[in-house]
Amino acid sequence: MPPVNPSPIPCIVALDYPSRDELLGFLKSVTPQSVPWVKIGLQSFCLNGPGLVREVGAAGFKIFLDLKLHDIPNTVAGAVRSLSSLPISMLTLHASGGLEMMQRALDIQQELAPDLRLLGVTVLTSMDRKGLAETGITNAPDAHVERLASLALEAGMPGLVCSPLELRNLRQEFGKNPFLVTPGVRPAGGDMGDQKRTMTPAEAVQAGASALVVGRPITKAADPVAAVKGIQEEMSLAIQ
Ligand code: C5P
Repeated sequence: MPPVNPSPIPCIVALDYPSRDELLGFLKSVTPQSVPWVKIGLQSFCLNGPGLVREVGAAGFKIFLDLKLHDIPNTVAGAVRSLSSLPISMLTLHASGGLEMMQRALDIQQELAPDLRLLGVTVLTSMDRKGLAETGITNAPDAHVERLASLALEAGMPGLVCSPLELRNLRQEFGKNPFLVTPGVRPAGGDMGDQKRTMTPAEAVQAGASALVVGRPITKAADPVAAVKGIQEEMSLAIQ
């Protein structure tokens, strides 16, 4: 695959494959130059463990490990300690785990993996107002995102995961520094799957994203390589 003008805003491909062979098959069809960033999430990590992370890292890809840690502070700090020797550049924790949980995780990260960026997950992009209300949260999703974002930034988290619909509000509220990663990105006319709060790649870039995460529109496409290339091109055009 010829390298596309790499956009300064990465399109991180979510490698949510049911088998190691399919995941590695996708990586063989691209290069770290054409797709610098990949995301390993719960599905692949639970199946393949840290060995896969080392293998993907050794192949030259930058890794966003999306484990969405959420437990008592001591356990989350221990998990960050266990993960700190892996070749990962970003790792997620749920901001709803609380201030102390995030601070303890940051303490370990700063001690053992100073280059690792911890991201606070605000409200999952699959949740809408009704889904949040079912968990007892009666705030609108954007208000709850803002509240969790404020807590994560108070803890010292350098970045957040949010839906593209909240990007403008978060930039207005918290400025240009937080690294805002957004899943819930769907090319125009694409299948939504279980995502409810979505935007197109171009809209997400224009709304202030630092990085996009795209999974099924690429991994389930008839031609995944063409799909990722199309999204990268759309993002590059949106920046110009
Ligand atoms: O296939 P799709 O593009 O919907 O994948 C989105 C990816 O982003 C999934 O791996 C999902 O776990 C992740 N994610 C999300 N919503 C969040 C955080 C991460 O969809 N708030």
